[in-house]
Amino acid sequence: MAQKNNDEQFKNVISHAKEYGFVFQSSEIYDGLSAVYDYGQNGAELKNNIKTYWWKAMVQMHENIVGIDSAIFMHPKIWKASGHVDGFNDPMIDNKDSKKRYRADQLLEDKITKYEKDGKTDKAAKLQSDMDTALQAEDLPQLKTLIEEHEIACPVSGTKNWTDVRQFNLMFSTQFGAMAEGSDEIYLRPETAQGIFVNFLNVQKSGRMKIPFGIAQIGKAFRNEVIARQFIMRMREFEQMEMQFFVRPGEDQKWFEYWKEARLKWHKALGTPAEKYRFHDHVKLAHYANAATDIEFEFPFGFKEVEGIHSRTDFDLSQHQAFSNKKMQYFDNDLNEEGKPYGNYIPYVIETSIGLDRMFLLTMINAFEVEDLSTDEKQDSRTVLHLHPALAPVKVAIFPLTKKDGLPEKARLIMDTLKFDFNCTFEEKDAIGKRYRRQDAIGTPFCVTVDHQSLEDDTVTIRHRDSMAQERVAIADLGRIIGEQVSWKNLLG
Ligand code: GAP
Repeated sequence: MAQKNNDEQFKNVISHAKEYGFVFQSSEIYDGLSAVYDYGQNGAELKNNIKTYWWKAMVQMHENIVGIDSAIFMHPKIWKASGHVDGFNDPMIDNKDSKKRYRADQLLEDKITKYEKDGKTDKAAKLQSDMDTALQAEDLPQLKTLIEEHEIACPVSGTKNWTDVRQFNLMFSTQFGAMAEGSDEIYLRPETAQGIFVNFLNVQKSGRMKIPFGIAQIGKAFRNEVIARQFIMRMREFEQMEMQFFVRPGEDQKWFEYWKEARLKWHKALGTPAEKYRFHDHVKLAHYANAATDIEFEFPFGFKEVEGIHSRTDFDLSQHQAFSNKKMQYFDNDLNEEGKPYGNYIPYVIETSIGLDRMFLLTMINAFEVEDLSTDEKQDSRTVLHLHPALAPVKVAIFPLTKKDGLPEKARLIMDTLKFDFNCTFEEKDAIGKRYRRQDAIGTPFCVTVDHQSLEDDTVTIRHRDSMAQERVAIADLGRIIGEQVSWKNLLG
């Protein structure tokens, strides 16, 4: 029953996102492009506000973190050095009857979830461990054996007629340069992090940055995901917000713990109930990492990763030093002052990496509520997005009570003073109640109604989204009242 409600809630969020201009299927009039989405008028605003929250928390609030914007196209050798050309693969398997393709590990994950739901925890744990071992060893035949042993059938054909498991590289490639001859195969970046690594010394030298320091960036990443599902959870084109924090070797564990806590605090500041989040520490680590954890959120389809915090040692910078033949070392003058032997070293790196689209989905799910407003006399409900006011796409909606008697003109004058500081909207159609509902549905925290009294005493009613309470205030106070509620200080302070 709970799962049914969760599925229902998720479906409602998806249709609400479309109906109210948050997210559209890409190329919809051509029947869509799988796992690619467009953000509509309200989605673009919400997305920008999430970016701003992240950028301010990471860059503006830290004297030792700066932001960059590196290109999507990068030298192909970068992806050889980073390990993506050889190792950025998913194990895939096809069902011969339905011709459908799956990620082998995903089929096994689904089976583990099923065992857990059925109370077969021992079986679930054993399969998890066997799968992890096979993935770590890149033992593809063993993955197929596990699928067969656990009698996993294709969800479409219902048969167990499987091909062998093969590796599938997730990077998109294209030709760089107009001439067929001499043009090179390059890749659309699968993560933004490498743009930071290869600019490490440019930023350090031009900004005279001292370790420990960080470089942050927000940008698009592309992955040819074998299967894409759960709406904007797993996309082929998506956005990341990543920060690489460069530290002294030996201080990496301390900073790893620091960033774990700092990032969870960032999430919780939005008012999300604490029990909706958890850390998932990686037991089996990637070859370059000495610690890693995921921040997971409880989506309607279970706890899933939103952000990764990885202690990546000096792997990436060392690889770029080896592949580019350029020194990637940092001269630590402070060590000398502290009486320690100084010298050049390749810094260690703690990475925080969050998917913007997943954060967007999480925010929509968290905010969405169909509120029962029924009384003894009549049935009623409203759909409301309880977005944090700082994230809301529109901060204030301004309504003249009627379309005549100079009320629209007065309302426009108010909008003309507020619009420099706040994203405003103007609506004069329909009854006020209907207008409130439309704004509730996109999460607008304030609605301001201009009536005949406003013409006499320069006051208006301001209506608060969550409590639906209304109060009469002076027009001159509107900027302060709204400003206090939507201030970034409420999130960052
Ligand atoms: N530089 C490290 C890195 O890219 P990752 O765990 O592969 O690490 C980081 O990705 C975050 O990017 C994930 O936690 C997730 O939120 C987001 N992400 C990854 N693949 C995604 C996809 N196909 N669609 C949407 N978001 C994705």
